[in-house]
Amino acid sequence: MNFISIQNIDSLDKWVKQALKIKKNPLKNKKLGKNKTLGMLFFNSSLRTRLSTQKAAMNLGMDVIVMNFNSEGWTLEFQDGAVMNQGSSEHIKEAAAVVSQYCDIIAIRAFAGLVDKEKDNAETVISGFLKYASVPVVNMESATGHPMQSLADAITMAEHKTKHRAKVVLTWAPHPRALPQAVPNSFVEMMQKQEDMDFVITHPEGYELNPEITKDSVIEYDQNKAFENADFIYAKNWSNYNDYGKITNTDPNWTVTAEKMALTNNAKFMHCLPVRRNVIVADEVIDSENSVVIEQANNRTYSAQLVLQKILKNGK
Ligand code: CP
Repeated sequence: MNFISIQNIDSLDKWVKQALKIKKNPLKNKKLGKNKTLGMLFFNSSLRTRLSTQKAAMNLGMDVIVMNFNSEGWTLEFQDGAVMNQGSSEHIKEAAAVVSQYCDIIAIRAFAGLVDKEKDNAETVISGFLKYASVPVVNMESATGHPMQSLADAITMAEHKTKHRAKVVLTWAPHPRALPQAVPNSFVEMMQKQEDMDFVITHPEGYELNPEITKDSVIEYDQNKAFENADFIYAKNWSNYNDYGKITNTDPNWTVTAEKMALTNNAKFMHCLPVRRNVIVADEVIDSENSVVIEQANNRTYSAQLVLQKILKNGK
């Protein structure tokens, strides 16, 4: 079993309930991962993913190997048949096969380059490991998705939702750097699996996500209108998908402020972190009692633990 995408979740409701059960007693399966090794390969920076996934593995009794691939590993070649007389030193074919001998599960973080849309959509790094590794592969944020984050988001919403049908709003917010679409993509896919929630995406015109992912999700270009009666506000920046990887809007009016939150149904504020304060969200919102960002990060441990637990039980 691999965990690459939200589409690997057969029943979101079931998975969320299982994760909440793990949260109540995280050490219950401490022996499940005995003598098993998780290899975590980072092609990009991380705080939460690195520590929560490692913590999850430790809760299951696993050993963990971590490697910062970009600074510590050889430059990898991903093209089959390449004549390797340029910059790359090692082919993914050997690298993935070798790492598979040391690890029982390989978890990978490899962001979008945001230069070549086709290459990013092809998920070069994670696809290479899927092709040549002989052990299960886990996505710790790839070019187009961050499914363990979205599973943690679903857990967080389940803990905080009230009895009525909740309205969830994914809002774009400004950011000084070009960011990938991975987090909003997986959040959209996760919301499409929610059976008892209404979902609205709001962003400036031109900032549409990949339509193959958003499908028939509701898009409202007026952020104030989208916020009306919302129960959850999920803020995230992403760079332009059409004008690929570019920043074409920095409008500070899209920052989530207390004034905007006042339009909602006393909504909880969510963000996957790290967050740029007073750019994405005003201090007064992220520091308010309605902010659940710290609990959201805590739930990363239980989403990762559920994924690892399922793989340990099911194998390849
Ligand atoms: N949300 C998240 O994935 O955080 P890190 O980038 O710090 O791992």
